[in-house]
Amino acid sequence: MISQQEFIARQDRLLAECEPNSVCLVPAASLVTRSNDTHYLFRQNSNFWYLTGFEEPDAWLILSNHPRYGENYRAMVCPTKDKTTEIWQGKRLGADAALARFSLDEAFDLEELDDAVLENLQGHDNVYFALGDNASADTLLMDAMSHLRGIPKRALAPSSIKDIRPLIHEMRLFKSACEIAVMKAAAQISARAHKRAMTFAHSGCYEYQIEAELHHEFAMAGARSPAYGTIVGAGSNACILHYTQNNAQICDGDLILIDAGAEYLGYAADISRTFPVSGKFSESQKALYEIVLAAQEKVLTMVGPGTTLTEAMQCSAEVITQGLVALGVLKGSVAENLASKAWQQFYMHGVGHYLGLDVHDVGEYKIEGEDRPFKPGMVLTIEPGIYISDDADVPSQYKGIGIRIEDNVVITATGAEVITNDVPKSIEQIEQLMKGSPD
Ligand code: GLY
Ligand code: MN
Ligand code: MN
Repeated sequence: MISQQEFIARQDRLLAECEPNSVCLVPAASLVTRSNDTHYLFRQNSNFWYLTGFEEPDAWLILSNHPRYGENYRAMVCPTKDKTTEIWQGKRLGADAALARFSLDEAFDLEELDDAVLENLQGHDNVYFALGDNASADTLLMDAMSHLRGIPKRALAPSSIKDIRPLIHEMRLFKSACEIAVMKAAAQISARAHKRAMTFAHSGCYEYQIEAELHHEFAMAGARSPAYGTIVGAGSNACILHYTQNNAQICDGDLILIDAGAEYLGYAADISRTFPVSGKFSESQKALYEIVLAAQEKVLTMVGPGTTLTEAMQCSAEVITQGLVALGVLKGSVAENLASKAWQQFYMHGVGHYLGLDVHDVGEYKIEGEDRPFKPGMVLTIEPGIYISDDADVPSQYKGIGIRIEDNVVITATGAEVITNDVPKSIEQIEQLMKGSPD
């Protein structure tokens, strides 16, 4: 759990990054209509969650560093605690209880939102806001700004709207000890789910049944939702990078690529494993698998403080190119294939990305056009792959095979700690685990 003190400290750090005399407005997410009066499962806005830990829709956080308040000022607009909402939709904290829970100076009901925004804009030089993220919040802010600008002879409106995202995103990029502990829990839950899926998989089952096994394990461990659309791709479906149809029946001899991670207390895990439904890799599956594994292991040993994602990408491309040339999948020399980037035909995505509250987490990858070196506290994925479609011009035994191996790492002072090691990864470990499975 992230403590209330940590949320307050994040708010203070944000205000310290803002110019003096500034107000920050951060709206929560709203429910999204599925059809008529039913909604998709609610997911809080990541920036709002990062600053508050408040799970209700439609709230707003208001922060100010104006000297008129002495200390930093904090306020929240909360969904109104009203009987009908509580009968139909669920319990609401309400403004009164929010005051104490979030150590606020003021709390407002949702009906007071327009007035609260108007009042809190007045007299500030700048408003920090994420324009473009939420259309109704944009309209509300613009209406309030127009209203204030229209008041004759009184300069009450902030003169500039500044983007709040770069400030929050930079903070989110570096995880605290508590965040890392939560991410390790998400990783462990997800690792158990992958093992369950490997043990369950058998020829004749459907991809979505494996998906159900993963989601069951997530929920039983306290993680209700996946962090992104679960990918279970058997056979050549594994070559579709973001495959989520998950509706095919699995045939004997297929490899299954699972890319799945739990969301736990808002934080994502993102693990991929590829394994044979029969429990035994064929010779051609083994040959390609060993290349991806060698690439992933080499990158895991080279990443750490000071290295960059571009270096990691190049390292993985070299190992994959060497392997594919040795198998005759790529023609010509290793040097030629690296120079022409021919490997991109079979490895068409990046080697990894930041991970946190969002699976493809926020934070800049370049600073003033230069690659950004990794630093302690960053969390990222390392996920090389090889995908050879059915119609590729390669020796036939390699066609229709997709393989990705993905782990999550925390950059430490001295290197990188892999936090998803609990899922088998070597051919021997996978075959051993699957010995007890139904096939
Ligand atoms: N699960 C999406 C990705 O690995 O980036
Ligand atoms: Mn993934
Ligand atoms: Mn990933």
